[in-house]
Amino acid sequence: MLVLGIETSCDETAAAVVQDGKEILSSVVASSLKFHKEYGGIVPEIASRMQLETIANVVDSALKKGGIKLKDIDLMSVTCKPGLLGSLLVGVSFAQAAGFASKVPLLGIDHLHGHIYAAFLSGRAPALPFIALVVSGGHTSLFYIEDFDRISLLGSTLDDACGEAFDKVAKILGLGYPGGPYIEKAGQKGNPRKYKFACSNTKKPLDFSFSGIKTALWYAAGNKRLGQQDKKDMAASFQETVINTLIEKSLLACRMKKVNRLAVGGGVAANNRLRELFFQRGKASALKVYFPPRELCLDNAAMVAGLGYRLFKKGGRRICFPTNRLFCV
Ligand code: KG4
Ligand code: ZN
Repeated sequence: MLVLGIETSCDETAAAVVQDGKEILSSVVASSLKFHKEYGGIVPEIASRMQLETIANVVDSALKKGGIKLKDIDLMSVTCKPGLLGSLLVGVSFAQAAGFASKVPLLGIDHLHGHIYAAFLSGRAPALPFIALVVSGGHTSLFYIEDFDRISLLGSTLDDACGEAFDKVAKILGLGYPGGPYIEKAGQKGNPRKYKFACSNTKKPLDFSFSGIKTALWYAAGNKRLGQQDKKDMAASFQETVINTLIEKSLLACRMKKVNRLAVGGGVAANNRLRELFFQRGKASALKVYFPPRELCLDNAAMVAGLGYRLFKKGGRRICFPTNRLFCV
């Protein structure tokens, strides 16, 4: 079964063709990131305008790269939530028009569930049930996955998302945007024990809070003239603390649900130090840890197409409109 996936929830315009939920025939990602850099964050209007301009070419290019014609596609799936409203509307409207014109069924996908599915595109995926941690620029959530149509939320961030905290800390340290890769690079040459940071406690143990550590770092950075080594030490100390919190809560979720399989996805899961520490601590706790390949941690449409196949096979037929109206095809 050939599935065309479309993803436009943030600044990316992405399309991919995936066969039978696992073989990626093509995956094209166009980003408007360079137009947002001067603002230090994503500007929704710029993102949706660029998506409107590029989506037809991106889909065309994904079909061409996969050697597929639109008439060969059996199913289209599109990210319909959560994300920037204008951006989601571009993807959903395009997919709906293309699906209608080509008489191909269309399915709406939850972006966070897509990030979880990315691990299933690697050839090494967890057996059901498992715990999933999604760490992205907009979300930090722990899920219990009994199957992809039976997902329960165990906890999520009360304030900043994990990736957002990386982005803001990088901004405080004057490192660049988006901050994750800059913090990772600076942290490689820093001392993670130099600064004593901590993530705030949360009432519910599986929730997260990152605004406190960001503020603590802001005060620590504001109290002195930062040299290059200070910045590296701060980046390393921040990163290590956040990763350890993510690990503690993920391990706790596994214990609470009595499962020994954990999948991690989302942009922050591309971080090498995070991957290394999760594998180390997982091994020490007799836990099997699964990551997508690094390029599939970031937003892409292959995960949307893959999950679309999986849900369609299970009888899923729904498009959830970003405006919360539900339609059936
Ligand atoms: O999943 P994603 O591509 O988009 C959203 O759904 O939000 O995640 C983007 C986030 C950004 O905050 C970015 O700074 C972070 O992922 N990120 C990283 C790394 N690469 C991207 N964070 C830490 N280390 C990285 N190497
Ligand atoms: Zn994402």
